[in-house]
Amino acid sequence: MIDVNSPSREYEKVLLETNLKDIMLVAFREHILVPAFNVAYLPMVEPIVQTLIELECFGLVEVSRPDIKKFGARSLDAVYEEYKRFENRAYTRLHLDHVPVIDEDGKLVDWRSMIWRALDLGYDSVMIDGSRVSLEENIEVTQEVVKEAHARDIPVEGEVGAVYGHEKGPLPPYEELFSSGKGFTDPEEARRFVNETRVDWLSVAIGNIHGAISGVAKDREKLKARLNIEHLQKIVSVTNVPIVLHGGTNIEQKYVLEAIRNGVTKINIGTAIRQKYERGLRETGKVEYAQENVRREMRYLIEDYYKIKGSARKLASLIKKRANPIR
Ligand code: 13P
Repeated sequence: MIDVNSPSREYEKVLLETNLKDIMLVAFREHILVPAFNVAYLPMVEPIVQTLIELECFGLVEVSRPDIKKFGARSLDAVYEEYKRFENRAYTRLHLDHVPVIDEDGKLVDWRSMIWRALDLGYDSVMIDGSRVSLEENIEVTQEVVKEAHARDIPVEGEVGAVYGHEKGPLPPYEELFSSGKGFTDPEEARRFVNETRVDWLSVAIGNIHGAISGVAKDREKLKARLNIEHLQKIVSVTNVPIVLHGGTNIEQKYVLEAIRNGVTKINIGTAIRQKYERGLRETGKVEYAQENVRREMRYLIEDYYKIKGSARKLASLIKKRANPIR
C-alpha cells in the first residue's frame, strides 16, 4: 500500500515537518491564503483533500457543530475517521470549526465536551466561538480552551464581533449592516482579547456574513458581501495574529484579494461547496456526481478566485528560507 504521507518531493517534506501553527504564521507574514473547506456531508472529505493535493494548495478540512447538527457530517469521530482515509499532511490539516458557547438558536452548548473530544481524537486545531457572550465571558472560555490545547501544541481560533447569518429569521438589510458597521469587531476589544487569551488566530467581522443554514434560505444563492479593509487594518495593527474570515462564500473578489494582502490568512468556505454537493445529489442521486461538483467548485475558487494554485510549494520555500536565514 502507498503511504500517502511519505513525501515524494522535497517541498512536501518541509510541510510534513512543520506544525500548523508555524505554517499559519508564515502564511500570515507572507500574505498567503490558507483556505478552509467545511465538510457538510462525509463524502465531501475525499474531493476536498484530493483537490488540494491536485492543485498543490495547502488548506484545511474543517467541520463545525452546525455541519454536524444541521447537515450530514454526522460526528467529530466520523469526520476524523473519514479524513484519516485520505489525509496528506503536506497539503491538509483537520480543524474543528465553530463550537459556539451559545448556538444560533440561542441554546447553551456543552462546548467543552466537543472541543476536548476533538483534542483527544487528534484534530490539528480548534475554534471556540464565544461571540454571543460578553467579552469578559468570551475571554474566560477562550482562556480555558487555549490552556488545554496549547498543552498539546494545538493552535486555537477565537472570535470577537458578530458574523451574522447562521441565526433563523431575516438579517437586517446588508447595506445597512455594512454601512453602520453593526456587529463589526471592535479593534480595542480584539487587542484585549488576543492579549489576555494568547489565542493563535482571530476570527473577525468586517462585512463578512455566514451563508444561511436553516429554512428555505439555506438553498438560496448567498448575497455578495464586501469587506471594510480600513477596519481590518486597524484590527491587524493591534493584534498581529493571523486573521480568519468566516462566511467566505460570495465575498466580492477584489475585497478578498485586498483582505489577504492585509492580514487575512484563513477563509472559511461552506455554503459554496455544500450547495454544489446537495444540487448534484438532488439532480442525479449519485454521490460521485455530487463529489465532482465539489471538485469543480474548489478548482474555480483556488485557481481563479483566490489564485493560490501551488501555494504549498511557495509556503514550503518560505518556511525553509526563514529556517536558514541568509547571513
Ligand atoms: P459560508 O457558508 O458563508 O461560506 O461560511 C462558512 C463558514 O464561515 C464556516 O465557519
